[in-house]
Amino acid sequence: MNDHGDSHGFTSVDTQPRPAEWVHVLDRLRAEPFFVAYKERLQEFLRAEAGGLFLEVGAGAGDAAVALRSRYGAEVVAVDSSLTMIAQARDRGLPHAAVADGHRLPFAAAQFDGAWVDRVLQHVADPARVLDELLRVVRPGGRVALADPDYDTQVLDIDDQELARRVLRFRADAALRNGSLAHRHAGLLAARGLHDITTEARTLVVRDPLAADNVMGLRTWAHTAAARGYLDPMDADKFVTQFDDAVRTGRFTYAVTFFLTAGMLPFPG
Ligand SMILES: C[S@@+](CC[C@H](N)C(=O)[O-])C[C@H]1O[C@@H](n2cnc3c(N)ncnc32)[C@H](O)[C@@H]1O
Repeated sequence: MNDHGDSHGFTSVDTQPRPAEWVHVLDRLRAEPFFVAYKERLQEFLRAEAGGLFLEVGAGAGDAAVALRSRYGAEVVAVDSSLTMIAQARDRGLPHAAVADGHRLPFAAAQFDGAWVDRVLQHVADPARVLDELLRVVRPGGRVALADPDYDTQVLDIDDQELARRVLRFRADAALRNGSLAHRHAGLLAARGLHDITTEARTLVVRDPLAADNVMGLRTWAHTAAARGYLDPMDADKFVTQFDDAVRTGRFTYAVTFFLTAGMLPFPG
């Protein structure tokens, strides 16, 4: 169970066998320097100011929302489809946290100065609808910010590169609902008439899977693919052997690029 290895848990955290473990996954990821840095940058995109009102959709345990509030003095409302997550968010000091589905936000139009989604669009059934909802509740001149990894950008150094590509392809196409949408976020904002669109890319490089593997789950991906009929089980075994060999010989390298995208809602007329 992990964010990057089997993300289906994040489509319905509360129905997982141990929902609290998904909170733990988020906590471990946000402790990684890569995550700390890109999350800070994503918040800069919102240009939050003291007294402003901001919304995070798919806020998880609420740490980014708490950080925005303390960093900029803005008010933050957090929603998430999981009650487990929202209970954590409240425990962590977010009074304005509620269970809600990003496809149907329970807010009036143009209510927020800005809104953001971080590692959420990759999991939802209809990302265009979630984006439309996000834009509906932000005022003209307000800002939205989006972040996701794009699994079309993955590379992995094991001996058999064709096998690596097949496993990474599974990861991009089948293991996530929208695993390769992030490089299209800017286009989605442009198509909706946003102004001042910015995109930055940040690449996560994993050189020590033993340190990160409980979170990343990289080593398990081939067997997940085999269990779902995407890969021969013998190839899955071969993948693990080559994976372990790459680790043992100190040349293991995996990388995936995250896209951070933001834009401003136009003023009418
Ligand atoms: C990978 S976690 C990211 C959490 C947080 N944004 C962070 O960066 O730590 C994805 C979150 O999106 C939530 N989520 C998934 N589908 C959702 C939906 N349709 N509406 C609202 N939240 C959703 C999950 O419950 C989970 O907390």
